[in-house]
Amino acid sequence: MHDNALRGAEPTAFQPLRIGPLTLRNRFIKAATNEGMSPAGVPSKGLLRLHEALAAGGVGMTTLAYCAVSADGRTLPNQILLDEPTQPHLRAITDAVHRHGAAASAQITHGGCFTFLPPAGSRRPLSSSGGFNKVGIMSGMLFKQAMTDADLERVAGEFVRGARLAREAGFDAVELHMGHGYLLSQFVSPLYNRRRDQYGGSLENRLRFPALVLRRVLDAVGKDLAVLCKYSITEGVRGGHDADDGAAVARILEREGAHLLVLSAGMNVESITTMFGSSFPKENRVSSANPLIAAAMAVQRLTEPKVEFRELYLLEHARKVRAAVRMPLAYLGGARGLEGIGRVMAEGFDAVAMGRALIAEPDHVAKLRGGAERDSICTSCNRCVAMMYSPGGTSCVLGQPGDALLNRLGAAS
Ligand SMILES: Cc1cc2nc3c(=O)[nH]c(=O)nc-3n(C[C@H](O)[C@H](O)[C@H](O)COP(=O)(O)O)c2cc1C
Ligand code: SF4
Repeated sequence: MHDNALRGAEPTAFQPLRIGPLTLRNRFIKAATNEGMSPAGVPSKGLLRLHEALAAGGVGMTTLAYCAVSADGRTLPNQILLDEPTQPHLRAITDAVHRHGAAASAQITHGGCFTFLPPAGSRRPLSSSGGFNKVGIMSGMLFKQAMTDADLERVAGEFVRGARLAREAGFDAVELHMGHGYLLSQFVSPLYNRRRDQYGGSLENRLRFPALVLRRVLDAVGKDLAVLCKYSITEGVRGGHDADDGAAVARILEREGAHLLVLSAGMNVESITTMFGSSFPKENRVSSANPLIAAAMAVQRLTEPKVEFRELYLLEHARKVRAAVRMPLAYLGGARGLEGIGRVMAEGFDAVAMGRALIAEPDHVAKLRGGAERDSICTSCNRCVAMMYSPGGTSCVLGQPGDALLNRLGAAS
């Protein structure tokens, strides 16, 4: 594609986009990045300030990551818990985002067997299938249990309740997390899902539970909220699914009525470099105080291949999805400069989701729009990932660390 065609597509990113019942002022979405700013599950003032800065900095929609639909559905102890007591804090955040003209999305999840917390009354976390729990080596939960029909019903209900709570807290969208190795992705993935019933085997069967959750959430809130799905187009690991399967997943989610897909890749445990498109550094400004998480990060560093960052590193995979469906798609993965964003628009993606470029500069979109920048300052070093566990929460190492004091105050205080 010629430079002129790419340049011609750049302004599209600044035009409004309709997703289900929601119209965004532009096509820039802040991707869900766990900010580590919700001690004991309560969204903090620091989290409010960050999302307010993203909204003031020009994004069309910012995503709050990542909100567990139940206490047992948490992966980390400090993850946002969607519950009545957190409502006023979430409301304070959505109000702040709306004051600056942006929309707010809540990423809602259940961790399944990817958890560092033992579930109530049991040492075996839920997953698609039972047996040895390799992701539980660090937490001592060496076995997981296959969900029964009653579990499936209950957890689907928890997603519905979470989506309703998000609506009441003023969110404009919910994003169902179906990727990266959390519970819904433990159904999608052939690596995890060994079931022999109607929820296992073929791709259609493996999608049956995630699709059920999507339908229930759409029925409950789909007239008022945009319902997005984020999933891993390719899992980037032997035995996992590839981008052709990822395109087939998109067809099913389109058929079920999802309003927009956010196209990620990789799995947290098995293939983190597929997700980030670059290796993790040896020297992190902070390591986790939790020895289990610190050990998990060290093992990841040793076992993952060395990968050099490329801008738009998931584009080849995402193109397969674009060719397979007509529904709105958000490109994700190494989008940062205007040229790349122009390419994403020129190739027919409807929105661009950005994680690290917006951690580095929450006002990156405004700078691109005003001509102050054509590229991002982010070097893709991935050091912000370990910052998630620091007292001030996730921040870019090129700037100031987050404020630990603000992180101790509830957002509504
Ligand atoms: C600090 C950090 C935390 C993240 N946490 C989440 C998360 O909670 N949920 C999620 O779906 N993805 C999470 N991600 C992945 C991002 O959403 C995104 O997929 C990844 O950063 C690649 O996009 P980018 O190249 O625009 O940064 C996280 C990424 C970073 C850097
Ligand atoms: S620490 Fe900063 S420069 Fe490094 S990847 Fe994160 S946002 Fe980019």
